Amino acid sequence: MVDPAAPILIFDSGVGGLTMLAEVRKLLPEAPVIYVADEAALPYGDKSEAEIAARVCGLLGRLAERYNPRLICIACNTASTIALGMVRDVLETPVVGTVPAIKPAAELTQTGVIGLLGTKATIRQAYVDNLEAEFAADKTLLRHAAPELVGAAELKLRGGTPDPAIFARAAEGLRSQPGGEDIDTVVLACTHFPLVADELSAAFGGKVRFVDGAQGIARRIAYLTRGQPFARNGVDQAIVTGDDTDNPALLEAFKRFGIGRILPL
Ligand code: DGL
Repeated sequence: MVDPAAPILIFDSGVGGLTMLAEVRKLLPEAPVIYVADEAALPYGDKSEAEIAARVCGLLGRLAERYNPRLICIACNTASTIALGMVRDVLETPVVGTVPAIKPAAELTQTGVIGLLGTKATIRQAYVDNLEAEFAADKTLLRHAAPELVGAAELKLRGGTPDPAIFARAAEGLRSQPGGEDIDTVVLACTHFPLVADELSAAFGGKVRFVDGAQGIARRIAYLTRGQPFARNGVDQAIVTGDDTDNPALLEAFKRFGIGRILPL
């Protein structure tokens, strides 16, 4: 029997996983959630595979022991494409990962040319090659690493205004590749990027559709926890590593996602 107060733990390197939390909330309004942002190690996307795997496995092991979650969602494409298998090997808790939404994008594209924006680490993963081979073998998939968008999303969430040139560079990074002019569907393969979807849409001239995995993953979480009792005790809490625990702008933003307090690790 699952403890009704056992949380769903949603984990990201930063605020990107909030896009996942928003979808989970729609399906499971009563689910207790602990949101974890590993801001001390952000950005994951610029790190090596070994660094990311060690960090994610270590942190999730500690958190699982402390909070006894009913399920862990790795709401981070970078961490999932690198460490999902390892995390599943070391934890008994069910783990749901977030991987680039290439399959739905392949179903949606009319031109057959799909763009993919992710972190540097994500776009070089064999996991992405395999998704491409499995679901988009008859399409053209153009990848571009847009690490600047991570910082832009972090800034926007804290009330700042990112430089529009960042979004223009991301769009150009895809458009300038051979065939890039025909892109009609863009996979947002980093959970931070839906937070700046409006800015990206403006940079692409409104001519592309964005796809991310959040809704599908929320459905998967609802499916895996079906029939379980939930007792959400008021607001949820976030654990934030690094120096930003007392940042009022961050707390304000988290409140919009139903998180009432931020604690250090
Ligand atoms: N949110 C993470 C992802 O989905 C990446 C951000 C980072 O580089 O840490 O890939």
